[in-house]
Amino acid sequence: MTDLNKINSVFVEKLKTIKSKDELQHLKTEFFGKSGEITNQFKKLSSFQGEEKKKFASSLNKLKDNFINLINKKFSEFESLEINKKLKDENIDISLPIRPFNQGKIHPVSQVIDEISSIFSEIGFSIAEGPDVETEYNNFTALNTPENHPARDMHDTFYLEKNKKLLLRTHTSPVQIRTMLNGKPPFKIIVPGRTYRSDSDQTHTPMFHQLEGLHIDKDITMGHLKGCLNYFVNEFFEIKNIKMRFRPSHFPFTEPSAEVDIQYKIKDGKIIIGEGDKWLEILGCGMVHPNVLNNVKIDTKKFQGFAFGMGIDRLAMLKYGINDLRSFFDSDYRWLNHFGFDPLDVPTNYRGLSR
Ligand code: DAH
Repeated sequence: MTDLNKINSVFVEKLKTIKSKDELQHLKTEFFGKSGEITNQFKKLSSFQGEEKKKFASSLNKLKDNFINLINKKFSEFESLEINKKLKDENIDISLPIRPFNQGKIHPVSQVIDEISSIFSEIGFSIAEGPDVETEYNNFTALNTPENHPARDMHDTFYLEKNKKLLLRTHTSPVQIRTMLNGKPPFKIIVPGRTYRSDSDQTHTPMFHQLEGLHIDKDITMGHLKGCLNYFVNEFFEIKNIKMRFRPSHFPFTEPSAEVDIQYKIKDGKIIIGEGDKWLEILGCGMVHPNVLNNVKIDTKKFQGFAFGMGIDRLAMLKYGINDLRSFFDSDYRWLNHFGFDPLDVPTNYRGLSR
């Protein structure tokens, strides 16, 4: 019995010094392992007889149960200490403000390019592209622009070389030349892209966007041109029967040439398209000049067609009520956030474009 008392007090003392689960495991082995104190006492059982054996067994079992309870209790203490420490260390402060989440917006110019492209693709136009750096030949000469034409003037055109052979294209029309030189008629293309002129005020930026159209085939007439542009204008502004006016004009690369105006009025300082009796110019167009077709070796007896060119930025300003063109290209995130388009919430006439 005294042995058991001794074992008990040794165990209790040792248990007090235990500081970790590992140490507790060692203590358990010390008492319950193969040659542990408690195990050894059980081995002694056989040396007792009768009542004495019963008594010893009972005391030993009580001692064992008590030790196991104490060990389990200590183990639970370590467990909850660990959990509490984890909770404290990995504490999530729900009062912290969330990280800023910036969703991208589609720029009005990209949006309008997509809208226009999708409108024209529905009537069979495909999309062509050309480089921003052009030859003087494609930009002017092949387009029947005379040597002394004011558009060639240094003040309007960004020339890249002293000999004026390379320049930043001043319009998307040179892609007409590239397309016709690289293929065989018929052609039915639109060309959205960047264009450059030395100009800057509220309605002009040195870089701006144009969209060119070209349709060359047998028997294409001015009637086709009018029908095509009429369809486009109504679809783009999402208004039925906008009044249009084809006003005679001049471009070196078309004959006859026209400028197209659409009906509008001003109400409360805002432009309302499709109402009123004022006229707003939105694009230039005409029947492709025979000289241009000759320059790209197209037989003018067999083929003819129309072309048109419009300012994309201006159309975006008109449709979405944006006043200052320069703000388009300031790269101000707040501006884009306000005027840009949610990629998942596109305007109604967007039909999706597969380019
Ligand atoms: N290139 C002309 C410009 O920049 C616009 C234009 C007018 C294009 C008539 C055309 C056209 O294709 O037929 O002002």
